[in-house]
Amino acid sequence: MSILEKIDVNNTPDHIAIIMDGNGRWAQKQGHDRLFGHNFGVESVRETLKAAQKANVKYLTLYAFSTENWNRPKEEVDGLMDLLVRSLGNEVEELNKSNVRILTIGDMDGLPEFCQAELKSAYERTKDNTGVNLILALNYSARWELVNAMKKIAGKIQSNELTPEDIDEDAIIGELTTCQIPDPELLIRTSGEHRVSNFLLWQIAYSEFHFTEVLWPDFKEEDLFEAILDYQSRERRFGMVSEQIEKNA
Ligand code: FPP
Repeated sequence: MSILEKIDVNNTPDHIAIIMDGNGRWAQKQGHDRLFGHNFGVESVRETLKAAQKANVKYLTLYAFSTENWNRPKEEVDGLMDLLVRSLGNEVEELNKSNVRILTIGDMDGLPEFCQAELKSAYERTKDNTGVNLILALNYSARWELVNAMKKIAGKIQSNELTPEDIDEDAIIGELTTCQIPDPELLIRTSGEHRVSNFLLWQIAYSEFHFTEVLWPDFKEEDLFEAILDYQSRERRFGMVSEQIEKNA
């Protein structure tokens, strides 16, 4: 029985979010510079997306560039921006053919213009697709997103569109960059690090976490399926007790 066959198709997470980590270590282990690892990381993105399609995942969010990543050496930052644009340029036709919709979360205005242009074109090209939503988190951090949401709510209060009493979870969710996207049921982080690193802090309130030692460039189809199987072995209680979950099943 293949790993895919072991997956319960009725209990696949609709949304998987991934902190792709370990590109630099993977490259350095082989005596190459960090960009070499990022280049190979794109191959894992391709393979993970295909695996997600096979497993009937509807949303795949990838943490591709955080607001903190600007602090890396300029050469690496420039290389990552070029890689993003090159990869989108090379892949968008194929992604479109396989019905993938490309979305982004994060502060797009802070990205170089050539990246914004490529992202807009990929977004426009794939916006009517109904298959997997590939969500690239770019110039993203959860704290940035929450501060941004608070500013927008404060603006609405100032213009009398809202009162402080109107602020509830839905009001906040409506101002997050993920407002059209359901929360991830599963968060994966590669490379043996057990941190959340400012990623989707609001949205992962009830997510299951899967940590793997595998470095991102080595992450392949079976690693995604293993993560889904791990998720399916968990009991999600949402603050209730086991007996209540069994009764509602
Ligand atoms: C973390 O590894 C990885 C990143 C900061 C960038 C991720 C980018 C890619 C996989 C390629 C481009 C993506 C797309 C969507 C086209 P790290 O550099 O922090 O690794 P380390 O912890 O070993 O140093």
